This record gives sequence, C-alpha cells and structure tokens, in this order.
Amino acid sequence: MTPEEDNLRSSWDSYPSEYLDGYLIQGVEDPRINAQSILTRAWLSDTLYPGRFDALITEELRFGAVLTWILRQLEQGAGRAELHDAILSGDTQRIPEFLCATYAWLQGEACPIPDYLTTVLSCLDPDRPNGCLSDLALDTFMTIWSEQLASLSRGTISVLEVACGSANDYRFVAQCGLAPFLRYTGLDIAVGNITNAQHRFPNVDFRVGSILGTELPDSSCDYLFCHDLIEHLSPAAMERALEEMLRIARREMILHFFNGKRNGVHEIVPVRKYYRNRLSMEKIAAFFEGQGTHVTCLEMAPWLREKIGVPGYHNPNAFSVIVDRYP
Ligand SMILES: C[S@@+](CC[C@H](N)C(=O)[O-])C[C@H]1O[C@@H](n2cnc3c(N)ncnc32)[C@H](O)[C@@H]1O
Repeated sequence: MTPEEDNLRSSWDSYPSEYLDGYLIQGVEDPRINAQSILTRAWLSDTLYPGRFDALITEELRFGAVLTWILRQLEQGAGRAELHDAILSGDTQRIPEFLCATYAWLQGEACPIPDYLTTVLSCLDPDRPNGCLSDLALDTFMTIWSEQLASLSRGTISVLEVACGSANDYRFVAQCGLAPFLRYTGLDIAVGNITNAQHRFPNVDFRVGSILGTELPDSSCDYLFCHDLIEHLSPAAMERALEEMLRIARREMILHFFNGKRNGVHEIVPVRKYYRNRLSMEKIAAFFEGQGTHVTCLEMAPWLREKIGVPGYHNPNAFSVIVDRYP
C-alpha cells in the first residue's frame, strides 16, 4: 500500500465499528431518502428493466424530498401535529407547494402509493428520538420495490461498489429486493467497514481493498457505482481511481460526489490525513469524455427541481455522473 492508502485506511479504521456502521445512514444521508442513493438503485433497476419503473423512480425521488423536508423541520424543533395541521389546511406560507401537492395526491383514491406523509407525521417510534423519522415511513418504497421486483425474472448483472462502507447502500439494495438480480462485490479500504458488512451479509462478496491497487482484471464487472470517495483523494490518486474504475467497469458506472462546483478547477483541500476537495463537475466530465465515453452530469439541486419541482437539495454541492463506455 502507498502512504496515501495507509493514511486513508488508518483514518477510517480509527472509528469504532458501531460508528462506521451507522454514521452515513442517518438523517438526510439515510439511503432510503437520499436522492443520490435512490438514484443508484434507480440506475440498477433501469439497467435491468429499461423504462419500466420510470414512474416509480420519480415517486421515490419525491418521497425522498418530502421526507427530507419533514426531517429538517423536526430537527429544527417543529412538532409533528403542527406540521400535520399546516399541511391539512394547505398553509403555503408554512409548507412548500410541492409538499402540499404531494399530500393532496396521496389522498386520492386512485393513488398507487400509500400515504407516507400521514404515516411519518402521526407515527411515533418509541425507539427513536422525536427528530427522527419512523422506519414505518422510511420503508415505504422498500416495500413497494420488493413487491414489484419479486415476480420478475432474475437475469443477473455483475456490479462492483467502490468504497462500500459498512454496506451502507447495499443494505437497502438488498431490502428493496434488487440483490437477487446482482452479482455484487463491495470493496472498501477499511477493515472495520468490511467486517461490519460481512457480519450483516455473510454470503455476499465484501472485500478489503483499495481502488488504487486492486488486482481486478480489465472489464471484470459490468457496472460500477461509488458514493462519496473521490473528494477524499489527492489529485494523483483521484486520477488513478477514475482510471481504475474505467478499466474495471465494462459497461457503465455512476459516481456520486458530495462536494462539487460548476466551473473552473478542482479546489484541493487537505484535511488531517486525507482530503476534502471541492471538485469541478466539468473537469470530472472532461476526464471521462477524454477517454471516449459518454458522460451525463446530474447536478442534484437543479436536476431535482426540474424533475419533481422541489425547491432545492439538502446539499447544494452534490452532483452525480453517469459514464457510459459504449454510447
Ligand atoms: C465518505 S465514506 C463513503 C462510504 C459510502 N460509500 C457511503 O456513501 O455511505 C468514504 C469511504 O471510502 C473508503 N475508502 C477510502 N479510501 C479508499 C480506497 N482507496 N479504496 C476503497 N475505499 C476507500 C472509506 O473506508 C469509506 O468507507
């Protein structure tokens, strides 16, 4: 391992395993409501069944935005009953328009989605503090997806997740019923993360390893995804990681970034033993385009505004790129 990999490993392995297991699946990062996690699952289901789930994907993104807004209000001290009353009375001074419209739609008799807004505002989970959302509400789309996917034939695709953490996203890939469609490998540099992931999923291929030095052969997986790693690498390691991903993934990959910006150059920001860079979306896209791939950039806030009419995203710097090797 290089000194940089040593630093990356020791940084993440310095956290207690319970912390690693939970810190990125809480609050707005919960993959059940986080738009970039929803997008990864949507990308997988759309790969398996192109176009079939477009409407459901849109509704799940809306669900994520609605529950994120409610969560933020609860965290700021709002009461569930007060929010419920304001929504019921259509108080657009207090409640954003997209949320009032969603509530009205959920009340319709023909609405195919259960009324998760009433569930989240009325249900108190005794095991969770007041500022949290209940699992009953959070699991709404996990249940819908697992019912939809259960009856479909199970051709499989091979998928590599880089920087899988403690199965942070995989646990919801599994819960929503996508796992039987995948030959999945999760890779993470931190032993603590992989131990957690293996504990949760003893029969799934979770491996300790670094994307900067894998021995995975060329084109050894069909699809690859990665959340929130690239910003933590030095410029040289970032380039190596992107090259490696492109070498390993045969068809397509989706990479998610939490700290991006529109124009100009990358801002390189060393933090303790690693980095927290602010990366230029255009430069990332140009890198992949320079390798002859087709790149689709999704800047989360404007993309969600256009797609589902929400006024913003909890992280205004988030963006994702989909890289297609054979456009
Ligand atoms: C910010 S966390 C993101 C974890 C997970 N993808 C998520 O979004 O919840 C960054 C992850 O990258 C892993 N990591 C850091 N350097 C790595 C490398 N060179 N190769 C593979 N994983 C790495 C860390 O152990 C950590 O789990």
